[in-house]
Amino acid sequence: MSDQIYSPSNAFSEKALVSSMNDYRNLYNNSIKYPEAFWAEVADRITWTKKWDNVRDFDFVKGQIKWYEGGKLNVSYNCLDRHVEDGHGNQTALIWEGNNPEEDETYTFNELLHEVQKFANVLKGLGVEKGDRVCMYMQMIPQLPVAMLACARIGAVHSIVFGAFSAESLRDRINDSSCKILITQDTGVRGTKLNIPMKSNADKAVAETPSIQHVVVVQRTGESVDMTEGRDTWWHESMASADAVCKPVEMDAEDPLFILYTSGSTGQPKGVLHTTGGYLVYTSYTHEKIFDYKEGDIYWCTADIGWITGHSYIVYGPLANRATTVMFEGVPNFPDYGRFWDVVDKHKINQFYTAPTALRALMKEGNDHVTSRDLSSLRLLGSVGEPIKEPEWKWYHEIIGKGTCPIVDTWWQTETGGIMLTPLPGATPLKPGSATFPYFGIEPVLLTEEGQEIDGNNVAGLLAIKTSWPGQMRTIYGDHDRFIQTYFAMYPGYYFTGDGARRDKDGYYWITGRVDDVLNVSGHRIGTAEVEGSIGKAIGVAEAAVVGFQHVIKGQGIYAYVTLMTGVDESDDIKASILASVTKEIGPHSKPDVIQFTPALPKTRSGKIMRRILRKIAENELDSMGDISTLADPSIVQKLIKTRPAI
Ligand code: PRX
Repeated sequence: MSDQIYSPSNAFSEKALVSSMNDYRNLYNNSIKYPEAFWAEVADRITWTKKWDNVRDFDFVKGQIKWYEGGKLNVSYNCLDRHVEDGHGNQTALIWEGNNPEEDETYTFNELLHEVQKFANVLKGLGVEKGDRVCMYMQMIPQLPVAMLACARIGAVHSIVFGAFSAESLRDRINDSSCKILITQDTGVRGTKLNIPMKSNADKAVAETPSIQHVVVVQRTGESVDMTEGRDTWWHESMASADAVCKPVEMDAEDPLFILYTSGSTGQPKGVLHTTGGYLVYTSYTHEKIFDYKEGDIYWCTADIGWITGHSYIVYGPLANRATTVMFEGVPNFPDYGRFWDVVDKHKINQFYTAPTALRALMKEGNDHVTSRDLSSLRLLGSVGEPIKEPEWKWYHEIIGKGTCPIVDTWWQTETGGIMLTPLPGATPLKPGSATFPYFGIEPVLLTEEGQEIDGNNVAGLLAIKTSWPGQMRTIYGDHDRFIQTYFAMYPGYYFTGDGARRDKDGYYWITGRVDDVLNVSGHRIGTAEVEGSIGKAIGVAEAAVVGFQHVIKGQGIYAYVTLMTGVDESDDIKASILASVTKEIGPHSKPDVIQFTPALPKTRSGKIMRRILRKIAENELDSMGDISTLADPSIVQKLIKTRPAI
């Protein structure tokens, strides 16, 4: 932790939307004191066809959350039509940068609206109606946001499955929410991978998804893929004959907008459900103020749309604000480690938003890749997804931002819909590694294990939120009881985040990481139970326990302890089949970094695995093992230590 404070420059503050801590505090206090008036005023930033009857209504015990009830609007209208109606149809809405540096495309608001209306008609032609679920399994291609906005236009609920997930994961997510349509692409390109088998994975999934009636396939690479007569259609063929006019459907503020699956502490991913009005208000409001977005700025968030960051801060927030938003198909190290900076230079990016894991990977390659590019367009830098530590913060600040760009370290979650803790770039003095203060309307608290609020500064505890905000998730799709159990039951009256945090002497928040069995690997959220389940499916495996450990690039790495069936020997083949099983069941992003075979796991007499001990061994913190006397067989600890592989 650094004591150094980085105040925004006068030059930045003078022009900023929120330009001093005084302004921040006044507005913040107002937002907490008069939440209804505050959020009513904020909601006027978007266009409603009918105003709401009631700003908010929430009950954290029952898990009932409603915002702008009675209000009517359409998200695609707000992201597209109204900008066209206001005379900005020729402004660039979306810049797509391909994996290949020679490939890019731009779409004006007129063009994007045209594509969205046509695809909305394609969906209607395939029988999609308001409330139906549409799954998307795609790489970062422009048809993805087109499809999202087309769903929003007709009231269909999209469920995007990140393109690295396996056929099995895709199948389970489709079945959980009974999606009617699947949209995918022939094959995908990403870095040096030029043939990611999207359609063939989709085919494997759809073989076991009774609800899917049609598959729409984007031709991205032209690779030949199997098309099933009557079920599969090509995107370009159906678009060619689609009607170019599709009126937006009037939606209730609380109608679902999308489902996005995320990992929790059990094996079953949760379908996080977000609704229409509050989500759009919250993402657009946070996007504008936190990124200090002003007309004409070119804004780039490097996330994948398959995660919440892409939903909220590539598509919905920016487009609602009539921002020019950039989406990138590739990876930071292809064709070389300067690719991000080439893109910044090429498109003259003003706001750049990325994850610490990418910064760490780039930082270790040295500064030549940076200094050889012109980054003078950059005005602001953002970070998301995991704690940003001091070394990469400083590198980001000095080498990328040339010491002049504020860094917004934004803490939030799939469940929160939008950013919750963050600096405001023209106001907040920064401390490297701290997400600083709550956004307007957000009331964070720190709780003891028993659920008591911890007052004052220089304290640490469990991070919870005291009152609702418009971007909050509304339920877990199909399992409201799990929603209550996961987020509200443990600490009644609060939304429990699953993170720990510290509030320092000056009131700054520092996220200390998850307090549950969820890992954060390269900014990807991974449930240890899911990984354990997929290891358990490898032939010869008896049992597995997975914990995280500090990893130089990934933030956290995955450490798996595996016991084999009697008679099965440890071998590289078994290791390979474990990795293959995880890839097949979840996807390559969940593969363990370390596998340690062990004759047994440390268990209490009642059979509970003591993960605390496994974490200590994985971290190589062998001197602070704590009390092991409650173990059924304490000698296992020494055996584990002795056979720990060098990392
Ligand atoms: O542990 C926190 C970490 O990422 C978790 C949420 O993951 P996900 O739902 O995938 O959303 C990621 C993108 C919003 C949180 O519970 N996290 C997210 N942002 C930060 C962070 N940890 C520290 N600092 C952050 N800025």
